Amino acid sequence: MKKNINDIKAMKQRGEKIVMITAYDYAIARIASKTDIDMILVGDSLGMVVLGYENTLPVTMADMFRHTGAVVRSRPECLIVGDMPYQSYENKEQAVKNAKLFIEEAGADAVKIEGNKPDIIQAILQEGIPVMGHTGLTPQTVTDFKVQGKDKQSASRILKDAVELERAGCFSIILECVPRDLAKQITAELAIPTIGIGAGPDCDGQVLISNDVLGLFEKFTPRFVKQYANLSAEIECAFVQYKDEVKKGIFPSDKHSYH
Ligand code: KIV
Repeated sequence: MKKNINDIKAMKQRGEKIVMITAYDYAIARIASKTDIDMILVGDSLGMVVLGYENTLPVTMADMFRHTGAVVRSRPECLIVGDMPYQSYENKEQAVKNAKLFIEEAGADAVKIEGNKPDIIQAILQEGIPVMGHTGLTPQTVTDFKVQGKDKQSASRILKDAVELERAGCFSIILECVPRDLAKQITAELAIPTIGIGAGPDCDGQVLISNDVLGLFEKFTPRFVKQYANLSAEIECAFVQYKDEVKKGIFPSDKHSYH
């Protein structure tokens, strides 16, 4: 049965870990959906791992719309969260218009926005669209890509943001790159699930970028990533074999020919 936000919230109450992974296309989303994963995030990390940009800032609504649609067409039973890209939620009207595109046109179940923006979140919620929050390291605005909340002042700002995101009505929040103890404290204080990435094991759930998990992104590997497969090497090997067989006239054989 298709999961909804109440299923995700209930998992925290039961103490059951929530598993989220990013996906950007039909093929990977289809495989992910076979594994009974809880949520797919169509992240704006798309910009780096699929589109080859240096960061997430050039990602547009058109990019996100196209890739969210591809994931939705895999018909997964998990909850699909569309990540609102940079400058797509600058004011309430724009945020609502774009959130509606994610849900009504692309077919996502919820949207995610970065930072503490209660009025924007509430405007989207008023349209009946569930919102996931995101605090800690927020790649659309941060200039310094390092662990956030290491000193007392920034830790209490992140804690305050998390509390305010819950109060604004988010059904869950991402905690990105924060110290384990801070994530543990936030997770204990909030009734909604925290989904960590680089935030230690005490969050209610975890999210990783699929290309990192699969060994398909070689530019850099943050400390928090665990690579579960090395598909780059396997793909390279397959391409080399294909090239060699074509060069040597081994492929296509009669078996691959029409008569
Ligand atoms: O864009 C993304 O993939 C994200 C995750 C890092 C949480 O926001």
